Amino acid sequence: MTAPARTLFVTTALPYANGPFHIGHIMEYIQADIWVRFQRMRGHTVHFVGADDAHGAPIMIAAEKEGLSPQDFVARIAAGRKAYLDGFHISFDHWHSTDSPENTELSQSIYRGLKAHGLIDVRRVEQFFDPVKGMFLPDRYIKGECPACGAKDQYGDSCEACGSVYSPTELKNPYSALSGAQPELRSSDHYFFRLSDPRCQAFLREWTAGTDRHGEPRLQPEVLAKAQEWLGDGAEGGSLADWDISRDAPYFGIEIPDAPGKYFYVWLDAPIGYLASLKAHCAKRGIDFAALLADPATEQVHFIGKDIIYFHVLFWPATLKFGGHKTPDRVNVHGFITVSGEKMSKSRGTGISPLRYLEIGMNPEWLRYYIAAKLNARVEDVDFNPDDFVARVNSDLVGKYVNIASRAANFVNRHFDGKLAALAADASDPHAARAAELEAAVAAAYEGREFGRAIRLVMAYADEVNQYFDANKPWELAKDPARRDALHEVCSRCLLAFHRMTILLAPILPATAARVEAFFGTPGLRWDDLGVRPGTASPARAIGRYEHLMTRVDPKSFDALFEPPAPAGAPDAGAAAVSAAGAGAAPSGQPPGAPAPLSIDEFAKLDLRVARIVAAEAVEGSDKLLRLTLDLGEGRTRTVFSGIKAAYEPDRLVGRMTVVIANLAPRKMKFGISEGMVLSASADDPAQPAALFLLDVDEGARPGMKVR
Ligand code: MSP
Ligand code: ZN
Repeated sequence: MTAPARTLFVTTALPYANGPFHIGHIMEYIQADIWVRFQRMRGHTVHFVGADDAHGAPIMIAAEKEGLSPQDFVARIAAGRKAYLDGFHISFDHWHSTDSPENTELSQSIYRGLKAHGLIDVRRVEQFFDPVKGMFLPDRYIKGECPACGAKDQYGDSCEACGSVYSPTELKNPYSALSGAQPELRSSDHYFFRLSDPRCQAFLREWTAGTDRHGEPRLQPEVLAKAQEWLGDGAEGGSLADWDISRDAPYFGIEIPDAPGKYFYVWLDAPIGYLASLKAHCAKRGIDFAALLADPATEQVHFIGKDIIYFHVLFWPATLKFGGHKTPDRVNVHGFITVSGEKMSKSRGTGISPLRYLEIGMNPEWLRYYIAAKLNARVEDVDFNPDDFVARVNSDLVGKYVNIASRAANFVNRHFDGKLAALAADASDPHAARAAELEAAVAAAYEGREFGRAIRLVMAYADEVNQYFDANKPWELAKDPARRDALHEVCSRCLLAFHRMTILLAPILPATAARVEAFFGTPGLRWDDLGVRPGTASPARAIGRYEHLMTRVDPKSFDALFEPPAPAGAPDAGAAAVSAAGAGAAPSGQPPGAPAPLSIDEFAKLDLRVARIVAAEAVEGSDKLLRLTLDLGEGRTRTVFSGIKAAYEPDRLVGRMTVVIANLAPRKMKFGISEGMVLSASADDPAQPAALFLLDVDEGARPGMKVR
């Protein structure tokens, strides 16, 4: 590396732990993950952490409705996170919770810092209290008639009918949305963070307008403009109001020190959860958390959506500054994802379920690529549009990039035993000069979160490489032994260019990059493996057997993707597909789309039985099949041919119990008649025929028992 190595502490907003991830969350994680992977490939150290935002009244109330403690409620949500994060290749180093000892300790110590600076005030506040529930009501749990237009059942802060904004005490005939009771006005002590203090105002004015250590503005121009609007012109000490940071018991949150019955408002402890997660990550890795966080060289970067700017560019830096910590270097704000031009709505469902996307076998890297192609450094909304998605993935990603490898690899394997030509890569080589220029432009685009530009640059290069291939007609060169060297050079250049493009796209396509690494035998690719900087070289020398790297999107997948989500209570994580590894049926190669729903009557038509494997032997003349002799408790045995030879030694099978479809019409095969099918689980990977698993039956079951 020419530039000195950086140490980065990167976060994404902490999602409320009241529901599974939606596509907006995944978009945010993909954006941050691409940036993080780019930094890691450049040789920088990145600590990338997330956490669930567990506290607050809405979660407490949702838990109560389900008869769960808030801790159990958020634990259930947390248990579902991994499937999404792994599924979309999000490379968090650690995932934590704001309901944790680390967060309690950090929040209380930061609060003590604020207090020591004289920035905490206690004031009496009048608020609606639900006498039935015995608690103060957050604004959104108070309803009544709009004071302006009289519309009924309006929320405590604004009217959906006429758009007026008011405070809950102005509602006519207010009632509690929790109990229906008429709320009473009661007063209690509240703790305030005195943001109106001139020290806070002066600090925030300077911080928001500042630059990071690279001289880049800390905030995007449109975000800075917002912040300045909120901060006012400062003539009379600014217009920022003090912030009410306390809530009365009962509340799911962190206790305020020396204030019995008072808890931190969730937005006070939520961002401190960034530090709590980093702390837990450090403990796991044996890193000195306090030193890392305080080190002036550690760059702190937050990725957030446009709806929570206020909290992150005003409250959060002030909390850190006067709570005794270093302030963030950057806050990167993104817009919202819309689906075919429509806003996602939590109540209407979100249009695309990320888990369903994975379950129906859509490739997570298609989504990463598509979102990256649409992202830039501005706070703009991103529209997910199916036609556009298909076009970009199929014609650009597969049609341009993957295509190069599949075209050139055949020639190199067939004619040159997989070896690439040794090509000059000095500055006099026009191909190398072009690659160097591309590298610099793509690196700058990633650094500045202009991912759409990075992709356009790489795709323009892919066009050039495809044109170069076409112009040189390797298929004709291959017919002429005298032009063997030319053939070798043309195809090698294309494959080297493909290797380079893979590095340039690796932050976006990490799984494809890993497959390409295996194809070239160049594991652990880093940015310098582009080989275009002085003193660096491409490690690519040869290729292996070409395996298909990525399939095209089938536009029909969207029919399944946009189907209404499964009813509550349905199993939600996708287990390995259960395939029938029976007579003649290939153990893999299942269609990626999940089949249509089945009625219970249809299911009942399957006669599934427990069977004991009495004998198992290889079938002469078949490299896939085993001949199984099965006891289904029928007083006779059955013969079933099963395509599980790659996965099981016949001897190991004898005596074990498994599950069979007993009413499959007998099928005549080359080797005999097969009278059923044995069930097994497998991933859809034809490259791994041995990754196949027979179903097992628990101790005590007897042959012939029905499976239902
Ligand atoms: N819990 C708070 C954040 C606390 S940060 C200390 C919160 N949670 S959230 O679940 O509502 O949102 C989490 C992140 O998802 C936010 O950055 C938010 O902007 C982002 N998104 C929510 N809906 C979104 C879209 N439709 N599109 C893109 N991002 C969206 O806010
Ligand atoms: Zn109204």
